[in-house]
Amino acid sequence: MRLERFASKEDLYARAVDIIVNAKNEGATTFGLATGGTMEPLYAEICETNIDFTNCISFNLDEYVGLSAKHEQSYAFYMYKHLFHHKPFEKSYLPNGIADNPTEEAARYESLLQQHSLDFQLLGIGQNGHIGFNEPGTSFDSLTHLVTLEESTRQANARFFDSIDEVPTQAFTMGIQSIMRAKSILLIAVGEDKRDVLERVLASKFTEEIPASILMKHPNVTILTDLQKGENVQ
Ligand code: F6R
Repeated sequence: MRLERFASKEDLYARAVDIIVNAKNEGATTFGLATGGTMEPLYAEICETNIDFTNCISFNLDEYVGLSAKHEQSYAFYMYKHLFHHKPFEKSYLPNGIADNPTEEAARYESLLQQHSLDFQLLGIGQNGHIGFNEPGTSFDSLTHLVTLEESTRQANARFFDSIDEVPTQAFTMGIQSIMRAKSILLIAVGEDKRDVLERVLASKFTEEIPASILMKHPNVTILTDLQKGENVQ
């Protein structure tokens, strides 16, 4: 695991763009993508570059159940707005939030993932340690599945909706095993509200209660943070 700390968010996101450009230059063609507040500045930066993803495939980590791709808070809409509209991929996959049969949809998505192994996976992290929407307690062996979101996750994401009541209660997410199969992983943890969880992840105690703790076992993971050493982060 490589941990890189940055004094400014600007430098952090510039480094993240470099890592993605380098991965692509070294032959990565299949990218696992994330949404959320952490990724918005990154995608804005990527849109300013001349990187071309038109020969690449993307898979998003997750999607809310009950929201169609046209819903403004769906992750399909988010991706179109922040990235795909400006930087299209040859093909972009997300779970279908309005699939009739959630079990079949999870299996379909996992099967697609297994057909196209991920060269690169981008991750944010929840304050409870979730990666994708793998909430605490999720098996490290999990594949793509339907989850019931923790109340704290719904509250953290309520800022994107008009009210908490509109935040879906369920989502599809790649599993932890699906994520760990990626050849390289970049996790970005930005802001004070990620301090506690980052400290817990870096403590390297592998526990399903902190889903991101498994990343310490991945052979090629980089963590970028703006949290400085000496403030309880190792
Ligand atoms: C989003 C995702 C989540 C977020 C996490 C952090 O696709 O999979 O794990 O990365 O909830 O969200 P933000 O960046 O909004 O703090």
